[in-house]
Amino acid sequence: MVFPIIFAFVAPSRLQQQSHANPKPPTAIIVEDSVRRLPCSALSTSSEPSDSSSSRFGRQDYWDSFYQEEDGAAFSWYTGWADLEPFLMELLNPDDTILLPGVGSDTMLLDMYESGYRHLTAFDYAAQGIARCREMMGSERSNAIHLFVGDARDLPQLEDASFDVVLEKGTLDAIVQSGEGGTLKEKKALGLENMEKAIAELCRVIKPGGTFISISAICTEELENSPEWQRTTTGDDDAVWAMIRDGSLYFTESGYASNNFDGTLLAWRKKKRSQEEE
Ligand SMILES: C[S@@+](CC[C@H](N)C(=O)[O-])C[C@H]1O[C@@H](n2cnc3c(N)ncnc32)[C@H](O)[C@@H]1O
Repeated sequence: MVFPIIFAFVAPSRLQQQSHANPKPPTAIIVEDSVRRLPCSALSTSSEPSDSSSSRFGRQDYWDSFYQEEDGAAFSWYTGWADLEPFLMELLNPDDTILLPGVGSDTMLLDMYESGYRHLTAFDYAAQGIARCREMMGSERSNAIHLFVGDARDLPQLEDASFDVVLEKGTLDAIVQSGEGGTLKEKKALGLENMEKAIAELCRVIKPGGTFISISAICTEELENSPEWQRTTTGDDDAVWAMIRDGSLYFTESGYASNNFDGTLLAWRKKKRSQEEE
């Protein structure tokens, strides 16, 4: 009866491979394989309070020291470009202006650049994260894109409606854990308030017709229920948000299945009300 036991271990990886029906040849140098990655669960595993509203992952000093450590040199949370590209290429154009908030030292930035996405802006509130990011990109690429230290809750550096896409991965998950002080209820409320401020600020900089993309694990429900999707922030009364990826199992046209990467993909497009029915 050895066969059934072996099958139990082999079957899942077979199933995953099968869902990549038409694997695409690699189009760019993918550096992420040399990078240590952590699954979604790592961000919610904390020795600190067991609720998800407050943990070290919500503190700036944690991230500054994280990026000073050896592991922080090049670190992609949840999943990298190779796994996400089939899904993101359906939502992005190479000419798009793309903002990556809370980028840290995510090698996805380098992979996107090498894949031809050149109008990139990225920031993090951890200055050490941006220093690591510059090292990872090298001086020529760093000079070709816009990298800065900034807080997603308040971005005076960025003009209204100036990006085609905001692409966040794990940043709102960190922010929702930033509630500190007071009771559990107060911490949760503060974490949510910080997350809402960040969502509103990131939506402010998206052009009408643009897209907000999130790969998250912890705050997916809060993000889906954000009041932001009921309003617009760029003074365009005719614009509304339409959810275009709802986190359920999704297959790309070329057959990639969204359960092959760690994290939940959510996306909204800022559309003209008149185009809503299309
Ligand atoms: C889980 S890591 C994700 C890093 C990167 N996006 C990735 O996918 O590998 C969360 C990142 O968000 C950053 N961060 C947390 N709160 C932030 C805020 N309010 N403004 C900007 N960055 C923030 C942290 O410094 C950290 O780099």
